[in-house]
Amino acid sequence: MSNTEHPTVKKAVIPAAGLGTRFLPITKSQPKEMIPVVDKPTIQYVVEEAVASGVNDILIITGRGKRAIEDHFDRSFELESVLKKKNDYNAVAKLEEIAKLADIHYIRQKIAAGLGHAVLCAEKHIGNNPFVVLLGDAITLSNNPCTRNLIEHYNKFGASMVAVERVPRQEVKNYGIIQAEKVGDYLYKVIDLVEKPSPKDAPSDLAMLGRYVLTPGIFKALAQTKPGLGGEVQLTDALKHLLKNEEIYAFEVTGPRYDIGNKLSWIKATIELALLNEEFGPELRKYLKELLK
Ligand code: UTP
Repeated sequence: MSNTEHPTVKKAVIPAAGLGTRFLPITKSQPKEMIPVVDKPTIQYVVEEAVASGVNDILIITGRGKRAIEDHFDRSFELESVLKKKNDYNAVAKLEEIAKLADIHYIRQKIAAGLGHAVLCAEKHIGNNPFVVLLGDAITLSNNPCTRNLIEHYNKFGASMVAVERVPRQEVKNYGIIQAEKVGDYLYKVIDLVEKPSPKDAPSDLAMLGRYVLTPGIFKALAQTKPGLGGEVQLTDALKHLLKNEEIYAFEVTGPRYDIGNKLSWIKATIELALLNEEFGPELRKYLKELLK
C-alpha cells in the first residue's frame, strides 16, 4: 500500500497515567502498566508492538507513582556490572536491548482526568502529524502486529483508524462501542461511538480495544470535549467530535488481546503466554492438565 498521499505515522503515544483502581491492591504502589506477564512488564509488550509496527519515537504519558516505568526503559549500570562480574552476558544483552528498544520520551499527566485528557497531553510532542495511540495496559498478540495493521489501513484511507473486536453482548458496558457500516473484509466506516453503553442501548458488539491511529484533528476535538462518563475526558467522546469533520474507519481484530487492568484477563494472558514459552511452556501444559483432572 502506498503512503505517498498522506503524512506518515512516525510517533506513538502510550497513555500510562491511570490509577488502575480495578487492579487494587497491587496498583496502590505499583503502576498497572508494570504488572508482569510471564517475565516482562505489560508496557514492554506495548512498546515492542509499536517498534514492530515501525514506530520508535514513543511518548509515554506517566503520572505520580509511575517512575518504575522510566527506570525499566533506562540503563541499569549497577545491575549490568554485577551481571558482567558473574559472566552472565546473556542477561546483560537482554537489559541493554530494553534500554535501546526505542526513543522514549515522557510527560506527566498531572491529574488522571481520563484517557482523552492523557492523549491531549501529547499535543506538543506530536504537532500537526498523525500518530498512533496504544493503551499501556492492553496486550495484543498477532503475527502482523495490530498497530502495523492499523497504520497500513491509515496509509490507504488517510483517516483516523480504531481497532475493534467483537465482544459478548453483556460485556459492551466495559468498552467504547462503535456504530458502523461494513465497507470491506474486517473493515468498517464509523457512524457513531458510545462509551460503555448498556447492552440494550449498544449500537453493536464492536468494541474499541486500545489501539488507534489518530489525525492531529483529534487535539481540537479533545479541547472541545467536556468531562463525560465518570467525570473523565473520554477519548470516545472526542472521536465523536472528530467524526463531525473527518471520517473514521475501524479495523476488526481477531487475534487475542488482553486488558491487563482486568484481573481475569491478566490471568488468561499470563497462562497463554507462559504456554508459548519454550523454556517452561510444555511443563506448564502438563501441570495444568494434571491440575484440571
Ligand atoms: P483505563 O480505562 O483502564 O483506566 O485506562 P485506569 O484509570 O487506568 O484503570 P481503572 O479503570 O481505574 O482500573 C486505559 C489506559 O489509559 C491510561 C491508563 O494508564 C491505561 O494504560 N490512562 C487512563 C491515563 O493515562 N490517564 C487517565 O487519566 C486514565
